[in-house]
Parts: sequence; structure tokens; C-alpha cells
Amino acid sequence: MNQSDRPDLVQTKLNTMTVHNLFLRRFKVVMVLSAMFSMIVLMSFAINTNRPFSDPEKVKKDSVASVKAFMEVYKVLMSARCLNCHPAGDIPLQGDDSHLHTMFPQRGKDGHGVYAMKCNNCHQPTNAPGLNTPPGNPKWALPPADMKMVFEGRTPRQLAQQIMDYKRNGHKTRAQLIEHARDTLVKAGWNMGEGRKPPPLTYPEFVEVWDTWINTGGYAPGNNAVPKK
Ligand code: HEC
Ligand code: HEC
Repeated sequence: MNQSDRPDLVQTKLNTMTVHNLFLRRFKVVMVLSAMFSMIVLMSFAINTNRPFSDPEKVKKDSVASVKAFMEVYKVLMSARCLNCHPAGDIPLQGDDSHLHTMFPQRGKDGHGVYAMKCNNCHQPTNAPGLNTPPGNPKWALPPADMKMVFEGRTPRQLAQQIMDYKRNGHKTRAQLIEHARDTLVKAGWNMGEGRKPPPLTYPEFVEVWDTWINTGGYAPGNNAVPKK
């Protein structure tokens, strides 16, 4: 049968086409809008990954003050109380001379040890009393295997760059880094039980230079920077 024989059918077809066109036009609008929306989402991601260290309200850039503060921070980071949990290998260190931990407990995937040799078998939530007993903290562990946060052997420049690198610092933003200095595990560095030398700065001094370092731009010292004793 020929279409012209059925005018009603032609009309229906026309109607369907108009609806179809209308639909296509709407569809285009939706597509354009969603493309714009994804762009905005993508852009905000791009901004977000940069933001941690470029928050203009808080950061007053001053490379000289920043580097000076970091050199003080570095002395604490490299002290046995911090270094012993930030080793280059997968076994924690012990003592003021940072020797390998006796019985060689291993880092493990999450930093809490392997199999039956878990850190918290021996390291309790608080310090055990007496000499040569395990210091304690509820979070006692090494950093995890996929984010080792090594301090041992790092120059001031390397360590500053590492800590300021969102991809290597445990995905910490500027604000989270500031917060981290207030973490109980960091604070524990000044309360490590009998017979262990505290870090070279007091805890409030450390917090002050840490904040200054970050809030003046988190600059890394030059290649040849050596901390003053
Ligand atoms: C018992 C082990 C332990 C001790 C002791 C310790 N840390 Fe850590 N530290 C960790 C763990 C685990 C992480 C990762 C977990 C996290 O990010 O909160 C970490 C993460 C960090 C980070 C973030 C890493 C980075 O590259 O930004 C800093 C900074 C840090 N510690 C500083 C210190 C300082 C300063 C001390 C000494 C006063 C100290 N730590 C002592 C276990 C320890
Ligand atoms: C079998 C028990 C035991 C296990 C398991 C154990 N430790 Fe220890 N740890 C000790 C003892 C005991 C000391 C104190 C040694 C001393 O002072 O002579 C100590 C000391 C340390 C110190 C030195 C603190 C300082 O500032 O000098 C660190 C760091 C440490 N342990 C980390 C860990 C981590 C991380 C784990 C898990 C991966 C772990 N330990 C597992 C018993 C243990």
C-alpha cells in the first residue's frame, strides 16, 4: 500500500517526526549541560589537588622564614623518637642510637606488623613502666607499606619536599599537615617512657616551627643545607 493512500498515516508520521526533533533538541541541551557540568567537576578536582598548599588566606609566602623554620623541624624529625618509626627499611628502629628493633618485627601491609608479630602485642595503649619496656600509644605502628614516609637518610631538602607532596605524605592537605603536629602519635614523641631522650625542641617549640614552615609556604631548603647543631 502507498502512503498517499492513507493521509492519516502521513499525519502520524509527521507528528512522530516533530516529537522526535523536539526530543533531539532537548537531548542536545541535556548533553551540552552535562558536558559543562563534568567540566566544572573536573576543574574543581584540578583545583582541589592544588589547593592544599596554595590557600591564599592562610599562607603568607616567605621563603627565608619558611626554610629557617624547617631546619628546626628537621632536627626533630631526625631525632630518634621520630626516626625510629620512619625507617628506610621495613623494620622499626630502637633506642637513642636507632639500632634495628630486636626480634625484627616487620612493617606489614598496614604498618601494624605481620602474622603473630603485631606491634600492639607488645606496645600497649600507654607506656609500660620501667627501663627498656615498650612505649605505648593506641595507634602504635609504622606507616603503611604503600606510603612508607621514610625520614631515615633524607636530606632537609628531600624531606621537606616529601612532606609537602600530597602524593607521598599520606594525602594530607595543608590543614591536615598542621593538624598532624597535634596528633597523639606525634605528641607521644615527647612521652616515650623512661630512659629515652626527648627530641631536641620542646613540643610547643616544635608546633610553632612546624606551623611557621607550612604557613609561610612550606619551602624546601637548598641542596646543601645542613642543620646547625
Ligand atoms: C610509633 C611510630 C611513630 C612514631 C614514634 C612517630 N611516627 Fe610519625 N607517623 C607514624 C605513622 C604510622 C604515620 C602515618 C599515619 C598518619 O599519617 O597518620 C606517621 C606519619 C607522620 C607524618 C606525616 C608524613 C609525611 O610525610 O607528611 C609526619 C610529619 C610525622 N609522622 C611526624 C612525626 C614526628 C615529628 C614524630 C616524632 C615527634 C613522629 N612522627 C613519630 C608513626 C610514627
Ligand atoms: C615482641 C614484642 C614487640 C613487638 C612485636 C614490637 N615491639 Fe617495638 N619494642 C618492644 C620493646 C620491648 C621495646 C623497647 C626496647 C628498649 O627500649 O630497649 C620496643 C621499642 C620500639 C621502638 C623504639 C622507641 C624509641 O623511641 O626508641 C619502636 C619505634 C618500636 N618498638 C616500634 C615497633 C613497631 C612499629 C612494631 C610493629 C611493626 C613493634 N615495635 C613491635 C617490643 C616489641
